[in-house]
Amino acid sequence: MYFHQKTRTRTILYECLRQEYSTIASRRHPCSSQIHQLQHHIRKFIPKTMDKVMALILSMLMAFLNLALHVNAVPPGSALSSTYYDGLCPGGTKRFQTIASTIVAAKVIADPTLIPALARMCFHDGWVEGSDASVLLDFNSSFPDVEKNSPANNPSLRGYEVIDAVKSAVEAYCPGVISCADILQESVRVAFKTLFAGSLLYNIRYGRRDGSISLITEANQQLPPPTFNYSQLITSFASKGFNAHELMVLSGAHTFGVSHCSSFTSRLYNFYGNGTGTDPALDPTYAFALKVACPQTATVDGIVPLDYAKPIITLPSFDNQYYKNILAGKVLFISDNALQVGDLAEVNLYASNNNQFRNDFAQAIVKLSEVQVKLYPNGQIRANCRKRN
Ligand code: HEM
Repeated sequence: MYFHQKTRTRTILYECLRQEYSTIASRRHPCSSQIHQLQHHIRKFIPKTMDKVMALILSMLMAFLNLALHVNAVPPGSALSSTYYDGLCPGGTKRFQTIASTIVAAKVIADPTLIPALARMCFHDGWVEGSDASVLLDFNSSFPDVEKNSPANNPSLRGYEVIDAVKSAVEAYCPGVISCADILQESVRVAFKTLFAGSLLYNIRYGRRDGSISLITEANQQLPPPTFNYSQLITSFASKGFNAHELMVLSGAHTFGVSHCSSFTSRLYNFYGNGTGTDPALDPTYAFALKVACPQTATVDGIVPLDYAKPIITLPSFDNQYYKNILAGKVLFISDNALQVGDLAEVNLYASNNNQFRNDFAQAIVKLSEVQVKLYPNGQIRANCRKRN
């Protein structure tokens, strides 16, 4: 019995102690339960079979193990990192990525319209209070007017259930550590990756913390409406640290996804503000098709694709078609058309070079994923992405 116990003790110890002390000290290290088991065996065993010297040695060992378990020697870092969750969760960052990939890929394959929806969520989250998942917070009696309720988000912003699903999965194995803000950005990354059949568009860093401020007033003021002209767009982007080039390339996200008719019908029926007129910048055939899809007398707010050539429900393609559409007068928003007023040369460049667009977009969306992030010790890790802790 004694020798059996001793061998078992040695094996468990060997397995665990060969790993770095600092890793064992992580609150949720996979060895935690083994160490507890070991302590239990030692406690049961000492009084009956061991002499006092051995008891002393073992109690010192127990003190060491206790220290290892209860001191969080791997505190969350205060900088973004591509390996942020290593040492903080079992399986580290890789396991988080694998779980997010499995869940998000399944969801976006089942409903490809979620891919543009998530891409837009990345923009709407980052633009208000930074990339801190503030857009995910639901209203409640204490906070009745949240970002989510802004007309810019409601009812058009979608995909919240994707983030919820990833959050439940990661909370189950590493509670209280992985932020909703990181989950949101990782979900967008996986959505793009799935669209490109597994080939990578970009990588991101992790370590964002969740915000607790979410105000409809800020969303109303800060999210650019589709009626903005070029200089208003430039001002909006500059206020978040983005330049004219980044405005140009990020707007390329309008190469996929959908819009409600209400976001652009003023261009069709009320361009001059007196109840008449169609924006002359719109190609006449395109304007006609839009009027058919979005009749002035409609009682339901219809939906049309942002790129007229892409069907809504199938897996969309992410390409430079948007810039070709701008040049052809076939974009939905005044803000889209404004780009050629502002920088025709760059519209031409992207219209003729898909690879350049893709590469520049990848760089810009990584920057968007990191806009005004909250870092430890600021912010919190929400237990539920829809509620403050
Ligand atoms: C430059 C200023 C921008 C304006 C004024 C703008 C405006 C809009 C509007 C009005 C819609 C349609 C909403 C609806 O009625 O359903 C929309 C859709 C969309 N926007 Fe933007 N947007 C801008 C920039 C961006 C950026 C930077 C991104 C992403 C990086 C983005 C991604 C999208 C996507 C993917 C959709 C389609 C969403 C879906 O299918 O659910 N937009 N945008």
